Amino acid sequence: MLKIMSIAGARPNFMKLASIVRAVEKHNDDNEKTPVKHIIVHTGQHYDQKMSDSFFIDLGIPQPDINLEVGSGSHASQTAEIMKRFEPVLLDQCPDVLLVVGDVNSTIACTLVASKIEYPADQKRKRPIIVHVEAGLRSFDRDMPEEVNRILTDTISDLLFTTEESCLSQLQSEGVALEQVHFVGNVMIDTLMQHVEKAERSIIKEDLGLDNPYVLVTLHRPSNVDRQETLQPIIECLMQITQQQHIVFPVHPRTKSSLEKFGLFQILEKNPAITLADPLGYLDFLKLIKDAKVVITDSGGIQEETTVLKVPCVTLRENTERPVTVNIGTNYLIGTDPARIVKTVSEILQGNGKKGEIPPLWDGHAGERIVEILLSCAS
Ligand code: UD1
Repeated sequence: MLKIMSIAGARPNFMKLASIVRAVEKHNDDNEKTPVKHIIVHTGQHYDQKMSDSFFIDLGIPQPDINLEVGSGSHASQTAEIMKRFEPVLLDQCPDVLLVVGDVNSTIACTLVASKIEYPADQKRKRPIIVHVEAGLRSFDRDMPEEVNRILTDTISDLLFTTEESCLSQLQSEGVALEQVHFVGNVMIDTLMQHVEKAERSIIKEDLGLDNPYVLVTLHRPSNVDRQETLQPIIECLMQITQQQHIVFPVHPRTKSSLEKFGLFQILEKNPAITLADPLGYLDFLKLIKDAKVVITDSGGIQEETTVLKVPCVTLRENTERPVTVNIGTNYLIGTDPARIVKTVSEILQGNGKKGEIPPLWDGHAGERIVEILLSCAS
């Protein structure tokens, strides 16, 4: 038997985990000889019903076996609290493999614990094989907490699973050995492909009273939302866009608290051409992306989802760790200059948006490839 422990902590992790859950279930159904035991640990980094629980339900992931319930905090206290609470769990369970996804604080915290752990002497291993899914992505912007998490997690992981061809040369340039890296495709896209039909049946548009075309907006990057001098021009820009098209804006808790602090939330609320919503469930949000004319975002994963759904995506960042979405997909990386945002969105609304292609191996089978490789490396 192979024992895999997977970590999930924040919203974007849950979609990635769902692909692994499904791949393990498929393996166990098809193969009685080497069963895989899958233990899910939720760190509790995201804890709201709308940021966490609803995803487990929508995605059909079993409830976590263990919840560390760390909650919010500064980067240092959140990371430290996860580490403190995770160490005894790892020592108790002693999995063969520790699988982490993405780039959130939970990812680096659990990786760091596993890299220094020493299992009891009666165990066949000294520590788990550490596996990073979605390795090798780089924005080259170390002011992003996620970039620091990515670099550190890759450095101390044993096996690195990548989503884009460019990741291999990047990892090699950082000293990672070729044998550690496997280009497997994109687990987030596995989950999208598995749920897109179900999402089509979502009644979110009726619930929000949307019967006209719309632009979908999401914002939560600290560099965009934490300071008034960056957030206010973006909001003004959205107000200008509403002169051309209705906007739907599900608001992340971090963004909501900034908007309220800077007196901007009321301005949005008063505009009849803006529909505000709480954070949405996975299926409802997928439906909104699929039917949007344009998506404006600063998220990482949404750049990928729009590429696969062939919806133009305007990314309000100076860099992206996912260049394939710009080079092959439908993504426009345009920064936060208001004139440029309005011009790009207008051009797309006039029907001149990128059509894009689907990147190599984003075919819905990344999770299965990962489980197969783990079985051959770890059994
Ligand atoms: C985190 C990730 C980011 C990911 C994002 C998706 C890190 C460093 N960042 O950013 O990579 O793209 O999640 O959402 O790990 N809050 C709630 N309810 C919750 C969770 C958070 O109200 O369930 C509030 C808290 O007040 C918290 C704030 O949102 O202070 C930010 O949450 P946090 O997990 O620290 O970072 P995110 O901005 O969500």
